Amino acid sequence: MLGPTRGTKNPDADEGVRGPWEYPSASAPEPECGAIIVSVSCSIGYSFFSAFHGGAARIALAPAPRSGLLFPFPTLHMPQTIAVLDFGSQLTQVIARRIRECQVYSKIYHFSTPAAKLREDNVAGIILSGGPQSVYAKKAPHPDAAIFELGVPVLGICYGVQLMGHFLGGEVEHSKAREYGHGVLSIQKPGRLFADLPKKLRVWNSHGDKLTVMPPGFRAIGTTENSPFAAIEDAKRNFYGIQFHPEVFHTERGADMIRNFLLGVCGVKQEWTTRDFIAHTVEKIRAQVGKGRVLLGLSGGVDSSVAAALLHKAIGKQLTCVFVDNGLLRKNERETVEKLYGDHFQIDLRVVDASKLFLRRLKGVTEPEQKRKIIGRTFVEVFEKSLKSTGRAEFLGQGTLYPDVIESVSIDGNPAALIKTHHNVGGLPERMKLKLVEPLRELFKDEVRRVGEALGLPREVVWRQPFPGPGLGVRVMGAITAANLEILRNADAVLQDEMMKSGYYYKVWQSFCVFLPVQTVGVFGDERTYDYVIALRIVESTDAMTADWAKLPHEVLQKISSRITNEVRGVGRVVYDVSSKPPATIEWE
Ligand code: XMP
Repeated sequence: MLGPTRGTKNPDADEGVRGPWEYPSASAPEPECGAIIVSVSCSIGYSFFSAFHGGAARIALAPAPRSGLLFPFPTLHMPQTIAVLDFGSQLTQVIARRIRECQVYSKIYHFSTPAAKLREDNVAGIILSGGPQSVYAKKAPHPDAAIFELGVPVLGICYGVQLMGHFLGGEVEHSKAREYGHGVLSIQKPGRLFADLPKKLRVWNSHGDKLTVMPPGFRAIGTTENSPFAAIEDAKRNFYGIQFHPEVFHTERGADMIRNFLLGVCGVKQEWTTRDFIAHTVEKIRAQVGKGRVLLGLSGGVDSSVAAALLHKAIGKQLTCVFVDNGLLRKNERETVEKLYGDHFQIDLRVVDASKLFLRRLKGVTEPEQKRKIIGRTFVEVFEKSLKSTGRAEFLGQGTLYPDVIESVSIDGNPAALIKTHHNVGGLPERMKLKLVEPLRELFKDEVRRVGEALGLPREVVWRQPFPGPGLGVRVMGAITAANLEILRNADAVLQDEMMKSGYYYKVWQSFCVFLPVQTVGVFGDERTYDYVIALRIVESTDAMTADWAKLPHEVLQKISSRITNEVRGVGRVVYDVSSKPPATIEWE
C-alpha cells in the first residue's frame, strides 16, 4: 500500500485491460465490502507536480477544488445521470464504471447529498452503494430520507438494501459474522431487474447485517441459501434491493442486472458514448473559453495528451502547449512529442529545454525524496516562467480525471479511506490568475483512452505505460549524472524495443530499466571490463497498488540482456528484479 512519504499513485486503474465504455471488460478489484478506496490517479497534474509535494499521500477529506466552470451553460445538453451514493464501499467506483459501460452517465455523490440537490441535477435513478458499516452503528452513514420521496427508481446494493430496510420500515438483523464469498441466487420472480436472466446464478456476497423483514410494499424476487430476501422489489415505486454485489465479475450476469435497472427500470437512454462526449465537450470548452487562450503543460502521458488533442479540436490556435525537457526523459521522447503535436496536430507547442538547470540542481543529490522535491520544485518554476513568456492567457488546461475529483468517503474505523493522493498545480492557477479548463474531469482512465483513440492519437500514446513525473531521475540510483542517464536511456530504449517486438509491452503494467552505480567485473573479447549494472523491472498489476514481477519467457529476457550488454556501452551486467509489491515498490526510488 501507500508508503508514508513515497509518491505513490494509481496511474491507471485499468491500464493493461482494454477498458470498457463501448464494450464491456475491465477488471474489478477484490470484492470486499467494507474495504476502502484509495483514490489515486494519474494526470498531468500528478506527473508534474506530485514530486513537488514529495508525492506524499495527503490525508484529505475536503472535496477536490471544483472549478465550477466546466458546465456553466445550462443550455447545453446534459446526458441523463444515474447518481451513485457512496457509503464508503471499495466498490463505489466500480458501480459507477459499470453504469458507464452501459453508455449511461453516472456520477458519484457523497452519501449525505440532499435530495434537493439530486432533484436539481435531474437524476434519473439512484444507486445506494455498499459500505463497511452496520446501519445501526452510531456513526453509520445515512442518506437524506427524502431521496425515497423523489419519485425516481432506487437500487440498494448490500449496505444499500439494508438502508432501504431501515428507512422504509423493514428490519435488519445485526450480525457479527460476515457472509463472504460465492452464493447461489435463485430467482423467483424476474420482474424488470432480472429480466432475461437464468433462474439460478452464482453471486458474490460480502455483508455482515442482513434484511430479515421486508419493508411494506416489497416482495422477494430472489433468495440465496442464507437469505430469503437476497433480492427484493417494490415495482410500484421502482425500488429494488440486492444483498449481493452485481458490480463485481464474480457475480454472474451482474452487468445485466445493472443494465436492466438502468434501461428497464430507470428507462434511461444509452447516450454516453465517445462520440457524444467529444461533441459535448468541444461545445463546452468553446463556451467556457470564448476567445480566450489556454495554456497546457504537456507531459507526453495519456491524460495530458488527450486533453491537448481535445482542447485543440475545440479551440485550435487558442491553445498553447508547453513541454518541459527536464533532462530526465527517455530516449527520443522530446522528438516524439515535437513530431506528434507540433508537426502532426499543428499545435502551438513550446518546448522549454531546462535540462541543464535540472541536472545542475540535482548534482550530487542521492536521497530519493530530495530528488523528487528538487525535480518538482524546479518544474513548477520553469513552467511558471515559460507561461509568462508565452503571452497572456486566461486559462490553464489540465488532464484531471474523474478519480482525482471524487471525494472519498471516510467511514469510522476505516481510516485508510481517508488517504487520497491529491495533486494540483501547487497554487499556480491562483498565483497566475488562471482559470482551469479540465475537459477530462468526468472520465475514468479507460474512457480517456477511448477519447484519445477517437481523436486519432496513436496507440503508443493512448496505451502507453505509466511513467513517473520525476522520470529517469528516480531510476538512476545514487547521484544523477549526464553519463549515467545516457547509459540508462540507451538500455531502456533496447528494453522498450524488445517489449514491443515481443508483444509484451501492452501485456504488462510497466517495463523499464534501472541504473545501478555498481561496477562489476566482466570480459568483453579479450578485455577485462569493469562496467555498471542495469536492472530490468517488469511488472504486472491492475492498479499499481500491488504488483508482481512478470514471468517473461527466458528467450525474451535473454534477448534483452544480450542486446543491452552488446549495444550499450558502460553496461557489463543485466539483472532481473524478481520482487513483488509489497514489499518492494515498483520504482526503485
Ligand atoms: P511505486 O513505485 O510507488 O509506484 O510502486 C506506483 C506507480 O506510481 C508511479 N510513480 C509515480 N508517478 N510521480 C508519478 O507521476 C511519482 O513521483 C511517482 N512515483 C511512482 C510508478 O511508476 C508506478 O506506476
